[in-house]
Amino acid sequence: MDRLNAAELMARVEAKVDRMIGQIGDKCPHFAGKEGVYDNTSLEWWTSGFWPGLLWVMHGVTGKAHYKEAAWHWDERLERWFIAPDGQLHHDVGFQFLPTAVIKYKETGDKDGLRRGLEAANYLAGRFNPAGNFIRAWNGDRIGWAIVDCMMNIPLLFWASEISQDPRFKHIAMRHADTALRVSVRDDGSVNHIVSFDPESGEFIEAIGGQGLAADSAWSRGTAWGLHGFALAYRWTGEVRYLNAAKRIAHYFLAALPEDSVPYWDFRLESTDGEPRDSSAAAIAASGLLEIAESVPAAERSLYAGAAERILLSLTERYATWDLPAHEAILTAATGHRPAGNFIDGSLIYGDYYYVEAIAKLCGWRSRVFAPVRA
Ligand code: GLY
Repeated sequence: MDRLNAAELMARVEAKVDRMIGQIGDKCPHFAGKEGVYDNTSLEWWTSGFWPGLLWVMHGVTGKAHYKEAAWHWDERLERWFIAPDGQLHHDVGFQFLPTAVIKYKETGDKDGLRRGLEAANYLAGRFNPAGNFIRAWNGDRIGWAIVDCMMNIPLLFWASEISQDPRFKHIAMRHADTALRVSVRDDGSVNHIVSFDPESGEFIEAIGGQGLAADSAWSRGTAWGLHGFALAYRWTGEVRYLNAAKRIAHYFLAALPEDSVPYWDFRLESTDGEPRDSSAAAIAASGLLEIAESVPAAERSLYAGAAERILLSLTERYATWDLPAHEAILTAATGHRPAGNFIDGSLIYGDYYYVEAIAKLCGWRSRVFAPVRA
């Protein structure tokens, strides 16, 4: 394939996903090592929405009932974690409930999906710190921490405002986005992963190293979350400062890519020798670049759409498992948390999700999970 043929590729994806349904069964997949068998992680874990989300995307593209049937019960399974005695849901309810409850409601009109989506939005809004204008990321003693990944959770709030006609959710989302623009996005377009605030006064304290090499390095997946998240914030609000942030981050991301368009886990490694890639960052960025492409004037579109297609072509030709039918994932060479030594150079379900999402967008799929559906 010299150029990406989206319809042909979607047919390959469909055959692959049909096999995955049998292989994955009721598992909650997160990571697969080189042997290609997905683990079965807790439903509470932030990635639990991506496998059902992938199935809902396939339903949206093909209209085939078996995808809907396989995805149907997931939002009900996830909802139980709101009342689990030692439940630890946090700001990632956006990642969990947008690709389950919210998309289920959009695709089928299911009232329970609507209720669960709004329940999750209320929970996310409740994590807002009005002194610092940020959404608290995690639990425990990290009371004043926010992370760039949250830009992908706030579409849950934009959606909630649209569906309820109550602008409070959107106000919170925009205040958080403006804070992230101020302290998470650096002048050169790279991003900070974690930023900390005094939770009492709201004062910004410092950037903290997280899943990247160091506090001042450039974690490639964090960069992709920022790129995609700000593009979505623009799509929901029409505020051009968010689009400009998404473009600035995209320019950094694209300039820092290695030859084959699939990044290593951090863009600021002294040497890439022996270091793992992160194909999930590539997939998240590709799907986000397509959101930017939809937002810019026609003359600029090919810059972003072309970059997305180059990334997807490389993932398709070099990092996919087409020839490995027993492999339960689509992409290889994904890295979860290199500094902690976890989930390295294998397959991550969110890499698979955003790869399929990006191809679906190229096929004209409209019932968007994270972005608004606009005429
Ligand atoms: N949102 C956490 C991660 O990207 O690993």
